[in-house]
Amino acid sequence: MKDEKKIENIITLKNITVSFDGEQVLKDFNLSIHDGEFVTLLGPSGCGKTTTLRIIGGFVTPDSGDVFFNGCRINDLPPHKRPVNTIFQRYALFPHLNVFENVAFGIRVNARKDARRKKGAAIRERVEEMLALVNLRGFEKRAVATLSGGQQQRVAIARALANSPGVLLLDEPLAALDLKLRKDMQVELKNIQKSLGITFIYVTHDQEEALSMSDTVVVMDDGDIQQIGTPQDIYNEPRNAFVADFIGESNILDGIMHHDYQVETFGRKFKCLDAGFAPGEQVDVVIRPEDIDIVAPEKGHLSGTVTGVTFKGVHFEIIVDFKGFKWLIQTTDYHPVDSVIGIKLNPEDIHIMRKSAYSGMFGDYSSYSEEFDDMADPTIDLVEEGEAAE
Ligand SMILES: Nc1ncnc2c1ncn2[C@@H]1O[C@H](COP(=O)(O)OP(=O)(O)OP(=O)(O)O)[C@@H](O)[C@H]1O
Ligand SMILES: [Mg+2]
Repeated sequence: MKDEKKIENIITLKNITVSFDGEQVLKDFNLSIHDGEFVTLLGPSGCGKTTTLRIIGGFVTPDSGDVFFNGCRINDLPPHKRPVNTIFQRYALFPHLNVFENVAFGIRVNARKDARRKKGAAIRERVEEMLALVNLRGFEKRAVATLSGGQQQRVAIARALANSPGVLLLDEPLAALDLKLRKDMQVELKNIQKSLGITFIYVTHDQEEALSMSDTVVVMDDGDIQQIGTPQDIYNEPRNAFVADFIGESNILDGIMHHDYQVETFGRKFKCLDAGFAPGEQVDVVIRPEDIDIVAPEKGHLSGTVTGVTFKGVHFEIIVDFKGFKWLIQTTDYHPVDSVIGIKLNPEDIHIMRKSAYSGMFGDYSSYSEEFDDMADPTIDLVEEGEAAE
């Protein structure tokens, strides 16, 4: 299937549209994935991540649009003929087979398919190689039901990699694991991907996981791509309020670009690093909680009152009321509730985004602080919705 000339994109989705029951789930979706890349589809529940993987795997037929593998259109290729394997959130191991047979299964199926049965010794060698790769040497004879969640997931990874797919699709593969194990497996998966050089298309709704593992992150919402970029791009230069809110925490304010490198927000003019907006253009201004410098009230660009404090281990998260708009600020110094603080904003801490359909939906931490206030107030009874009027 490989072409003579080097084709950079191993998978291309072109103008893909999918509807279920009259509801558009992917809207003119376009995505190109490089050979050897670790790409993550990141977005909230129901945004179309699994559907995208299923289209690549051949389990969903798009209403319109094309799927290419190494430059060849594969729309009509059935799933088992695609050079792609999938690891699902539920590992889908064969419970009646031991670890060895689970991993060997993929190889045997493939061997039959190729009409060149692999000899027992070759299969054994490959299974051993795969088990070594996922740190499960010596587990060959164990029944899969006796394995921990993390070990089962490793068997699933070994099985999926056993017949050397060109692309591995991973649908929230670590979601069932506890935090510590998930972090360990993130590192292991990344190492496996690097050492094998296989393209990984990874689905998660965990932004931290996406940022730490990926070469490229595709942020999705509502069947649309909101932004594609490196983890740093996505975090430092979010394209709209949805991305800014979904990736990390963000204070998002209304602003006006007066001219290049100058924005007005909160009634003050600030220097920024952004250019290319129309003079007087309304914009969204993003300020990350960790970028804000706290100073004495009289020395700040703005001053506000602390309304909530949460200890987070490495730092405190404080909610600060500036003229009724609540900001989230991270600080290693303790500032008690009701204290007045000043803040300074440097040009590099201010990120300007164009207005979008998401403007005004995120970025004010009012509900966060009310929730915090409620939790901290022992006199408030927790009542079910609808009972409050009693
Ligand atoms: N076979 C189907 N029939 C009908 N609707 C479907 C089908 N598959 C998916 N959907 C709908 O399409 C939308 C996108 O689903 P999808 O599984 O791709 O979301 P997701 O991003 O993977 O979400 P999650 O993070 O919850 O797994 C959802 O609204 C879902 O209900
Ligand atoms: Mg899903």
